[in-house]
Amino acid sequence: MKAYTLKKYGKPQEVLKLNETEKPSPKATEVLVKVCATTINDYDWSITSGKPFSYRLIFGILKPRKKLRIPGMELAGIVTQVGNNTTKFKVGDAVYGDISNYGFGSFAEFISIDEKALTLKPDSLSFEKAASIPHAAMLALQGLRDVGKIQQGQKVLINGGGGGVGSFGVQLAKLYNASVTGVDTGKKLEAMKAQGFDTVLDYKIVDFTKSDQKYDLILDCKTNRSLWKFLRVLKPGGKYVSIGGISGKLLQMLYMRPVLRLFTKKRVHMVMLKANKDLDYINLLFQENKLDCIIDGPYGFEELPWAIQRFGDGLHHGKIVISLT
Ligand SMILES: NC(=O)c1ccc[n+]([C@@H]2O[C@H](COP(=O)([O-])OP(=O)(O)OC[C@H]3O[C@@H](n4cnc5c(N)ncnc54)[C@H](OP(=O)(O)O)[C@@H]3O)[C@@H](O)[C@H]2O)c1
Repeated sequence: MKAYTLKKYGKPQEVLKLNETEKPSPKATEVLVKVCATTINDYDWSITSGKPFSYRLIFGILKPRKKLRIPGMELAGIVTQVGNNTTKFKVGDAVYGDISNYGFGSFAEFISIDEKALTLKPDSLSFEKAASIPHAAMLALQGLRDVGKIQQGQKVLINGGGGGVGSFGVQLAKLYNASVTGVDTGKKLEAMKAQGFDTVLDYKIVDFTKSDQKYDLILDCKTNRSLWKFLRVLKPGGKYVSIGGISGKLLQMLYMRPVLRLFTKKRVHMVMLKANKDLDYINLLFQENKLDCIIDGPYGFEELPWAIQRFGDGLHHGKIVISLT
C-alpha cells in the first residue's frame, strides 16, 4: 500500500515521503480499514514540523517517535478485514472516527486500528464530510455545551473562529440562538460571516480584549493571551473555555483557576477531549439539516504535504480534507 512516512522534522513537502509499505494486519481487537478520506489537524502540523517546540515533549525531542512514522489521526473508510475478537463491525461497513486515542496512521491507503476508535458512517454523509467531523465537532460541542454550559440567547465569542472548531462552533451556538462573534483574520472573515457569525473581528486590526463588548461565553481555540485580558471581556458569571493553545498561557490558567474561584464569579475551564463521544448526536443534527461541514478541499492524496503546509500557513478555512477515492 502507499503511505506517507516521516523520519525527521521539517517542511512537510521535504520530510513526508510517499512510500510503498506493507499493508498492516489487524490484531485481535482491530479492524483493517481502506481509507477513503482523511484530514489535516494541528497535531499533523506539529508532528511534521516539530513546531511549537513544546509539542516535541510528546512527539519526540529530536525526531518524531517511531509510532508516528505514518501520521494522520482522522479518517473515513471501509472495513476490509476484522480481528478475531472484534464485535462492532463487519467487512464492508463504512466507518469514521478520530483515532488519536489508539494511534496515528491515517495518511495511508490502509490502517489497522482498534475498533473502539470508529463509528458506523451514516449513508447520508460522504466520506469527505464524515472525515471532517469527529475531532473538530467534538471539541466544539464539548467546549460549548458540556463545559461551557451554553444557554439560550447568550453572547458568545469564538477566538480563532475561522478554523475547524470555529466552523462547527458557530453552527452549534446558533442552535441556542446565541449571538456569535468570531475572531480570525484575512479572507476567512468573509466566509465566516456567510457561515453565520453575527460579527467578525480581525485580530490583526482589533484587540477584542480592549473593547467594551462583554460576553457570556468565550470559546478559545488559540489561548494566546494572558487570562486577565479574557476575563476583562467576560460578563459577571461568564465562562471562559479554552480548547488549547500556547503552553505558557495554558499553565497560567491551571494555576489561576482555584484562586479565581475565591474572588470572582467568572469561571475558567479547559476542554479535555473525549474523542468520538456524542458522534450520534452530531449525526442527528446532520440528518435534520441543522449542521454542515465547512470543507477546505477536498485535495488529492498527492497534495497532502502541501495541504499540511497550507494548514501551517493559516490559509485554510474550515477543515482541510484529503480524498483517497
Ligand atoms: N482540548 C483538547 O483535548 C484538544 C485536543 C486536540 C487539539 N486541541 C486544540 O484544538 C485547537 C485546534 O482548533 P482548530 O482545529 O479549530 O484549529 P485551526 O483550524 O488552526 O483554527 C484556529 C484559527 O485561529 C486563527 N488564529 C491564529 N492566530 C490567531 C489570533 N491571534 N487570534 C485569533 N485567531 C487566531 C488561525 O488563523 P491562522 O491559521 O491564519 O493563523 C485559525 O484560523 C488547537 O488549539 C489544539 O491545541 C485540543
